[in-house]
Amino acid sequence: MAEILKNLPKPKHPNLLVGSDTFDDAGVYKISDEIALIQTTDFFTPVCSDAYDFGQIAAANALSDVYAMGGKPITALNLVMFPDEKIPIEVYIKILQGGSDKVIEAGALIIGGHTITDFPPKYGLAVTGIIHPEKVITNSNAKPGDVLVLAKPIGTGIIIAGKRLNETSEENYLEAIKNMKLLNKKAAEIMQKFNITTATDITGFSFIGHAKNVAEASKVSFVFQSKKIPLLPGAYDLVDLGCIPGAAFRNQKYLEKYCKFKNVDYNIKMLMFDAQTSGGILMCVDPLKVEDILSELRKSCYPNAAVVGEVQNEGRSRIIIV
Ligand code: CO
Ligand code: CO
Ligand code: CO
Repeated sequence: MAEILKNLPKPKHPNLLVGSDTFDDAGVYKISDEIALIQTTDFFTPVCSDAYDFGQIAAANALSDVYAMGGKPITALNLVMFPDEKIPIEVYIKILQGGSDKVIEAGALIIGGHTITDFPPKYGLAVTGIIHPEKVITNSNAKPGDVLVLAKPIGTGIIIAGKRLNETSEENYLEAIKNMKLLNKKAAEIMQKFNITTATDITGFSFIGHAKNVAEASKVSFVFQSKKIPLLPGAYDLVDLGCIPGAAFRNQKYLEKYCKFKNVDYNIKMLMFDAQTSGGILMCVDPLKVEDILSELRKSCYPNAAVVGEVQNEGRSRIIIV
């Protein structure tokens, strides 16, 4: 996708603070000295069988890009694709109810939307957030010596694949659903409190893919400790059973040229390429602040938040995993 978009004209405007060229999570447009708009959209096909859960997850995922920029969502529009027949209308209502409840939890308002006929169904949001123009958290300011902190565990794609093959236990599945529904709202507030300047959220491009975007935009290299990466319970063992979605292999194929793996366990490697839905925030933290940030993240709603690596000077490999 990035390859195709590269050929389109790049908008340039003095008020455009963040465009698409740094692979950032959302566009940011300054409307006054006090306020910039953050705009983003995301939608996808169901990741789970429960329509209400799916609505909540799709909304949490779409809102996440505003949080990854450090912002506060204010309004959202529903984007819905739903078949005329084949699926009962109650499912449609439950998806929208899930989205609505999640947007209310975020403190924002759904002020409209659009539905077209399509199968399979798809749901998501276009979200507008606000932020002070000088407090925008981007991809491009990671500094050598910064510590890398991940707020949520990874493995949602593999857990979902395992569920489809009847290999994921109910308990592990519910834990993954809970993590996907969890807003990155508190993480954004904690980042602002500690003046974090660089972060992203981990979604479909995988842990390594989104990390690579930040490292590249910041002209640095990231070194990850593979054993420190928090994993959803059960995800590691599912890789042994072959529950690896095609998206993980596609991410691996595209990203491997940026990576250097040193004696990394195969299962963890594949988890690092696994496409995430509504994943956690990866932030670059001044080492002096890291203990305080970790403890705040853990006691708010991210008990698995962990230090996963550090930022180094730009080297031969963009991402090094040990
Ligand atoms: Co994002
Ligand atoms: Co994004
Ligand atoms: Co996105």
